[in-house]
Amino acid sequence: MFQSTVVKWILLYLVISPTIFIICLSDLHSNNLLAAKRKRMSERVRKMFYHAYDNYMMYAFPHDELKPLTKTFTDSLSELGNLKLEHLPQQYNGSALTLIESLSSLVILGNYTEFEKAIIWLSENLSFDVDARVNLFECNIRVLGGLVSAHILATDSTNRLVQLIYKNQLLDLAEDLGRRFLPAFKTPTGLPYAWINLKHGVIVDETTETSTSGCGSLILEMGALSRLTGDTRFETAALRALRKLWSMRSSLNLLGTTLDVATGDWIEYSSGIGAGVDSFYEYLMKAYVLFGRDEIWKMFQSAYIGVQKYFRHGPWYHEADMRTGTATYWQLTSLQAFWPGLQVLVGDIEAANSSHREFFKVWKKYGVLPERYLLDHQVLHPTEKYYPLRPELAESTFYLYQATKDPWYMEVGESIMNSLNAHTRVKGGFASIRDVTTMQLEDHQHSFFLAETCKYLYLLFDDSFLRNQNYIFTTEGHPLPVRINWHEKLPRVYNLSDGSSIKTGKQRKRSSAMSLQICPASMIHHEPNARRLESACHIPDTGADHRCFSDDDCGVDANTCRRRSCSLAGYCGLWSLI
Ligand SMILES: *[C@@H]1O[C@H](CO)[C@@H](O)[C@H](O)[C@H]1NC(C)=O
Ligand SMILES: *[C@@H]1O[C@H](CO)[C@@H](O)[C@H](O)[C@H]1NC(C)=O
Ligand SMILES: *[C@@H]1O[C@H](CO)[C@@H](O)[C@H](O)[C@H]1NC(C)=O
Ligand SMILES: *[C@@H]1O[C@H](CO)[C@@H](O)[C@H](O)[C@H]1NC(C)=O
Ligand SMILES: *[C@@H]1O[C@H](CO)[C@@H](O)[C@H](O)[C@H]1NC(C)=O
Repeated sequence: MFQSTVVKWILLYLVISPTIFIICLSDLHSNNLLAAKRKRMSERVRKMFYHAYDNYMMYAFPHDELKPLTKTFTDSLSELGNLKLEHLPQQYNGSALTLIESLSSLVILGNYTEFEKAIIWLSENLSFDVDARVNLFECNIRVLGGLVSAHILATDSTNRLVQLIYKNQLLDLAEDLGRRFLPAFKTPTGLPYAWINLKHGVIVDETTETSTSGCGSLILEMGALSRLTGDTRFETAALRALRKLWSMRSSLNLLGTTLDVATGDWIEYSSGIGAGVDSFYEYLMKAYVLFGRDEIWKMFQSAYIGVQKYFRHGPWYHEADMRTGTATYWQLTSLQAFWPGLQVLVGDIEAANSSHREFFKVWKKYGVLPERYLLDHQVLHPTEKYYPLRPELAESTFYLYQATKDPWYMEVGESIMNSLNAHTRVKGGFASIRDVTTMQLEDHQHSFFLAETCKYLYLLFDDSFLRNQNYIFTTEGHPLPVRINWHEKLPRVYNLSDGSSIKTGKQRKRSSAMSLQICPASMIHHEPNARRLESACHIPDTGADHRCFSDDDCGVDANTCRRRSCSLAGYCGLWSLI
């Protein structure tokens, strides 16, 4: 009896152990293949970035953006958002916009010498004392955000920069620019004008019309500027505008798209998660991660539920009237593709995954993502058929890969990269696509191609930049580190329905911004009779190999909001249910 059991065990062992060995070997093999592929892909993105960057430096710098077909330049900072091209400056020779937008990408690519060269040039030659009317939102996310982020990277001791040459020149420039923004906020409501002349302030008879994202996407850059300079005016102005904007929400917790800054009245009541609104949602979530204000978390939570309830239709998001919640426009816009990335930060991986897949299907259908697509007819919008090298799908792909480590997302990244190289790469850089049905090109290389598109593709394949530090990325892709001393106080401990609680303030080394998220009980049980909403939950990133060591590493499941536990093999899951 005893002997036969032993024999059985030995036999079993002989059968199983080679199998285990083979499984381990093939695991190792595929991991190595994966690592080699990631390395190859990241090198390809690096080449793309330098093709765009070197051509800009050769043919356009110090003007704003490159025209890659004619190998010349455009001083486009004054044209951004200016569809009718009104009040264009007579004497404006650019602000080296694309160089400013490339700063954080250069650091992520590890090119510190070029980063330093850029800092020296900018500190000697850049001036904002120019007679140019610019869009506050665009100038904030591109120029102020680019400078503030680069300042932090330049002073970060881990980036091995030559400290001697850096005497806060970028911060001085940012502060000067921030001061030039302040007159825009002098309105009866505190909501800022959409336009500001950098030299003269708000011009006479300036339009009072602006957008929700124009008022609600300033807090990250201006808040960071206040924390860095000690001058609270920037954060105060941005926060006041954000609070006012939030007070204008409807009883359904929805906002419109355009409004009047003098009266605080809505102009366009229909809104969605795309153009004119997108980064408002993004900045609520990210401002909470960066500054830890409960007030902002509460705004985000209500706003997010509003979106999921009134805009969402399966994996799609249509527009709706803020007053009634009834659907208005059934359109997919290219800008909406950022939403799955935001949902990853929230913890709604399943919803993020399903929307992302639909966006990618449309990308594959046309080769790139068209600006506007009519969902009800499954056809292109008759006029908005362009693809201006936008980053949003690559951005969401990066976030989903970070959260799931599913290699499928790398294939998506590869496919995006192949399309960009096949359709938009020209001798003089990367050109926008005017019409996705003909792939006819347009003579414009937008600065966000360097700040975002290349950056997110690179980070998808090489995330070593994120290894030692948590960052949130602004809506223009500029990283800001998550530092606990920027939080006024640690976030509260939220109690879950089953009595267990998650500590949200815990700072874990090698965790991502995702680990600061929480799964408040109030969200799960919100309106029990309403149709099921995805929960906003905590999905910690348990490190490079995605393994856990204890239950504390696992947080909460996005679908059930139940605490997950760590299995003996080191994987997070709902093991207690099995
Ligand atoms: C812009 O460039 C033109 C031509 O080089 C020059 O005449 C003009 O003075 C410059 N304007 C400013 C404000 O620097
Ligand atoms: C940094 O960028 C410059 C300009 O493209 C290039 O000449 C140089 O080789 C780059 N250095 C590294 C280390 O990649
Ligand atoms: C500043 O610009 C001038 C004119 O383009 C140039 O001569 C000078 O070298 C620049 N400074 C630096 C540090 O590159
Ligand atoms: C994403 O969706 C696909 C297709 O429905 C599914 O196979 C995959 O497991 C999903 N991944 C995640 C992380 O939810
Ligand atoms: C969470 O629950 C614990 C014990 O169950 C209680 O002591 C604590 O006050 C609760 N915290 C909050 C924020 O409700």
